[in-house]
Amino acid sequence: MKTLLDYTYHKDPSAFRVNELEARAYMIPFDSKAAVYAPREASPCFHSLCGEWKFLWKPSIYEMDDFFTEDFDLSAFETVSVPETWQAHGKDYIQYQSSPYPFIPDPPHVPEKNPCAAYVKEFEASVIPGKRYELHFEGKDSCVYVFLNGNFVGYGESPHNDSAFDVTPFLRNGKNRLSVLVLKWCSGTYLDDQDKIRLSGLFREVYLLARSANGLTDYTVRTDLDGNVTLSVESGAPVTAELYDGETLLYSGAAESFKIDAPHPWSAEDPYLYDLILCSAGEYVRQRIGFRETAVKDGIFTVNRKHVKLYGANRHDSNPETGYVTTLEFMRSELVLMKQHNINAIRTSHYPNDPRFYALCDELGFYVMSEADLECHGFTYLHNWDRITSDPLYAEMYHDRIVRMYESFKNCTSIVIWSLGNESSWGLNLENEAKWIKSVDPSRSLHYEGAYVGYSERPEEERVQIDAVVDFASKMYSTFEKIREYMADPTVKNPFILCEYCHAMGNSGGDLRFYDDLFQTSDRYAGGFIWEWCDHAMTLKDENGVSYFGYGGDFGEHHHLRNVCMDGLVAPDRRPHSELTEAKAVFAPIRITRNENGTLSLWNRHAFSDLSRYDLVYTVAADGNEIARGTLAVSPAPGETATFSVPLREPYAADDAVLTLSLCLKADTLWAKAGHVVAAFSFPLTVTEKTPVLPTDAPAFEESRVFYTVSGKTESGKIFRYAFRKDEGTLVSFTVDGEELLAESLRRNAFRAPTDNDNSLSTHTNVAVPWMTDRYFGNIEYAESAVRNFRAELCDGCVIFRGDFIFGAQGRKHLTKGAFEYRIDGNGTLTLREDCRVNETLTYFLPRYGYLLALKQPTEISYFGYGPIECYEDKCSHALLGHHDYVIDDPACVYEFPQESGSHAGTRTLSVRTGNAVLKVSGDPFSFSASHYDLHNVTEAKHQKDLVATDVTYLSLDYRMSGVGSASCGGQPPIPECRINAGDSFAQELSIAIE
Ligand code: GAL
Ligand code: MG
Repeated sequence: MKTLLDYTYHKDPSAFRVNELEARAYMIPFDSKAAVYAPREASPCFHSLCGEWKFLWKPSIYEMDDFFTEDFDLSAFETVSVPETWQAHGKDYIQYQSSPYPFIPDPPHVPEKNPCAAYVKEFEASVIPGKRYELHFEGKDSCVYVFLNGNFVGYGESPHNDSAFDVTPFLRNGKNRLSVLVLKWCSGTYLDDQDKIRLSGLFREVYLLARSANGLTDYTVRTDLDGNVTLSVESGAPVTAELYDGETLLYSGAAESFKIDAPHPWSAEDPYLYDLILCSAGEYVRQRIGFRETAVKDGIFTVNRKHVKLYGANRHDSNPETGYVTTLEFMRSELVLMKQHNINAIRTSHYPNDPRFYALCDELGFYVMSEADLECHGFTYLHNWDRITSDPLYAEMYHDRIVRMYESFKNCTSIVIWSLGNESSWGLNLENEAKWIKSVDPSRSLHYEGAYVGYSERPEEERVQIDAVVDFASKMYSTFEKIREYMADPTVKNPFILCEYCHAMGNSGGDLRFYDDLFQTSDRYAGGFIWEWCDHAMTLKDENGVSYFGYGGDFGEHHHLRNVCMDGLVAPDRRPHSELTEAKAVFAPIRITRNENGTLSLWNRHAFSDLSRYDLVYTVAADGNEIARGTLAVSPAPGETATFSVPLREPYAADDAVLTLSLCLKADTLWAKAGHVVAAFSFPLTVTEKTPVLPTDAPAFEESRVFYTVSGKTESGKIFRYAFRKDEGTLVSFTVDGEELLAESLRRNAFRAPTDNDNSLSTHTNVAVPWMTDRYFGNIEYAESAVRNFRAELCDGCVIFRGDFIFGAQGRKHLTKGAFEYRIDGNGTLTLREDCRVNETLTYFLPRYGYLLALKQPTEISYFGYGPIECYEDKCSHALLGHHDYVIDDPACVYEFPQESGSHAGTRTLSVRTGNAVLKVSGDPFSFSASHYDLHNVTEAKHQKDLVATDVTYLSLDYRMSGVGSASCGGQPPIPECRINAGDSFAQELSIAIE
C-alpha cells in the first residue's frame, strides 16, 4: 500500500489536478421546481459536510501517519469545525509579510518540511443507486489529497477555486470516512502569493451533491438589452428552460436561445433579476439572470450602452477570528455595508470568491471585477518577476486558474470584468490566457494591471499587442500628475482604471475627492477600486489577557510587513473608519452645490436612474434648533443637473444658521431602511448682523518679578485669573473661581502622531521620519518656543501681552517665527493672535500648527463645525456643518495602530465644559481634537492596548491641521492646498471666552 509520502503531486507543477471534475458552471440542483428558490442547504441533493471534523496537525508531512486508511485510530485527533483555518485555533504559526514568499523560493520546489493537517469526517450516506455523487471543496489552502473509505479519490490545488471529485465508486450506504490531507504548500503555492495573512486549511464549505447520472453538467447563459437570452447547455438528458419575471412565466420550452420583450435591464443601480429554471433528468437548477450588456468601446467602459463609473473597493476574505472563513451572513453584511456607503463595484482581490458571494452581488447590485487566483509577486524579490509567467512549465497551471474562475462564474450577471490575476508581471502564459478568455467570453471586458507596468516604455508593437487583449489601461496608486501625463499619451487608447488607489491604511482617504474630480473630467476614466475594504488582523491576547488585533510582527515572525495589512475602509470588526464615510460622500449618486446667486444645483450622477426613489429633504437649523423642514421635488434625468431654490426666510440672525439637504430612501431596500440618508450637504446661511462686542472694564493687572497676572470677573460672576511667565511668554496658570484648569503651560505644537500615510512605505513620501530626524530641523515632536520682548500693555477695557517668538527644536533651525499677542478682556476672554511664517527652507509640510492646551479637570466638549466624525481639509466631503457633541478618543475614529485621529477641520466654535467653567473657543475656522492620551504615548504605541489614559484632556487648538493624503503605499501626501507648506504665513486669531 502507498504511504502518504508516496503521494507527491504537490511537488509536481504538472500534476495540479488529479481526478478532479472539469470546471463547469456552479449549480445546486433541486428535486422540484417549487423548491429551487430555497437556499442550497434545503436541496435534497446537497449534503453539507461542514461542522465537526477530526483534526490532527503536524509540522511536517514526514511526521504524519497514514491516517487515510479506513480504520486509522483517531484518538489522538482533536475536533474542529470546518470550514476553518488551522492557525486560527493555535496550530502552526500566523504570518504576515505581504508579498515575499514565506519560504526560500526555488521553483518548482516547495519545502520538504511541509506543515500539514489531517482532516477526517465520518458521515452517514443513503446512497441512491444510479445517482452520481460529487464531492466539493470550495476553498482549501494550499491543496488537498482526498481519500474516501481508504481509497484515493484525487488531488487538487488552487485555494480559491472549487475542487470537485466524482466519489460514486467509493461512497457507501451507511457509514463513510472521508480523510483529507491539507498541505501548507504545493507547487501551486507560487501562484498563491497574494498580500494576505498566510493561513491554511479547509476554509470554505465542503459538501456532497447527489446528482442524476445523466443530469445537467454545464450551461452558459448570456443576455442583452434587446431581450435575447443566449443559452447553451450540456446534459446527458433533454433540458427544458423556463424564464420567470417574479411569478410571470415569460418563456417555457427547449433550453436553447430565445427572446423576451421589453426586458427590465439589470444594473448596480437597479439590480433587477429574472429566474431562469433549467430542468433535466429530474433535476431543477435556478439561475438568477439580469439583462445587461457591458463593453469597452472607443476607449470608454459601458454598461447597458452607457458609460458608468466604478466606485469600487477591493475585497479580501478576512475575519479576525476565523481568518479566511466568511459565512454567508457575514458576506451579506459586508455587502450591505458597502451599499450603504455608495460603493457600486467590487474587485474580488485577488481570487474568486465563494459562489454565493457573486449571487449576493447579482441581487444587491454591484459591478464585479472577478479576479483569478493568481499572483506571483514574490518573484520581484528575486529580480525575476516573470520567472513563472514566462515559463512554459507553468502554462497549464495558469490556464487552469483562469478556466476554473471563468467556468464556475460565467453566468453571474454582476461580473462585468474578468481580471487575470494580480502582480504577476506580463509574459507568455498570461498573454495566452488573455487571448483565451476573450475568445470564450466576448461579452465581458478583461483587466490585468501587470500588462501596463512599464507600458509607456514598451515598444509600439508590444503596446498594440497588449491593447488588443487587455481592455483597460490599469494602474495602481498613481499620482494625479502621473495619470494626467499617461492619459495625455495619444497611444493610450483603453479606458483608464485604478485597480487600486487611495490606500486606506490608518487615517487615510485624503485624496479621494480629488481623484473623483479627475475621473469626472472624461468618460475615458472608468473609475477605480479603493485599496481595500477591510483591515486584516487576527485576534490575539496579550500577557494580561487583553484581546487585540494582531498584525505583522505580532505572531512571532521575524519577516513581516508590520501593519500594512491594516489598510481597510473598515476595522477588522467591520467598524467603519472615516475613510468609508468619506467614500460614501465622494461616491454619492448626487452632488449639491450652491451657486453665487444663492440657488442650488443638483447633479444626478446616476447613469440610469432618476431620483424618484428618494426624498430630497431640507432642514434649517439655527441656535441649535431645527426651525424649518420640507421636502423638495428635484429630479434631473441621469447625468443631468437641475437648479433649484429652497423656500428660505433669509437672512437669518443666528450666526449658526445652516441649511442641510439630504437625499433619503423613500422605501425599504434589501440594504437599507426607508429614510436611509444616501447623501447630505450643508451650507451656512447668511447672517444679518453680528452680535456687537460690548466694551468691558479692564481686568486687574499685576506684575511680579516672574509673572504677569490678570484677573477679574466674568459677566456671569465667575472669578478668573491668568498668569503668564515673563521669561517664557506663556500662559502657565488659568483659574476660574479658584480652580486651576491647566495641567501644563499652554504651548505651541506642530507635531502629530504620524499617521500611516506620514509613515509611508516609500522613503520618497515618508514625512514622519524627517519630522523626527531631519538634520536641520531635528525632532519636531519636542519643538519649543523661545520668546523675546514679552511685554504688557494696559488698554481700554483689556490687557494685551505682546512678544516675538521663534519655535523649533533645540539646536536646529526654527520651524516658525513671528509676533504674537495675548489679549485679555475685562470679561475674561483670552484672544490668541499670531502673525508668523513657516521656515521657507523646511523640506516637508508641517503636520499641524497651533496650541496644545492641557486641561486638568474632567472635560466635556461640543462644537459647531464639521462632523460628526473626524474630518481633515482633504477628507471633509462627508462632514456636515452643525452642532455636534465631541467624543473624546471616539472609538469610531480609532486605528489599531495609534496615530493622529479625531480632528475636526473648519470648526467655528468649541464649547469646553471643564471644572467650574465653560470655555467657548471661536475665531477663524480652526481644527481641534481632544484626547486623554499624551501625544508621545500615541506616537510610540503599536496597538490601542499600549495607550495609557491620563486624567488630562489634551485639547489641540490648531490654526491648521494638514490633510492626511493616502501616501502609505503609493498615492500622494496631502495635496499642497491642504497642508501647511514651507514659507506659508499665518495671521490668525482664536478667542477663549469663559461662560
Ligand atoms: C498592491 C497589491 C495589494 C496590496 C497593496 C498594498 O501592490 O496589489 O495586494 O499588497 O499593494 O497594501
Ligand atoms: Mg502583491
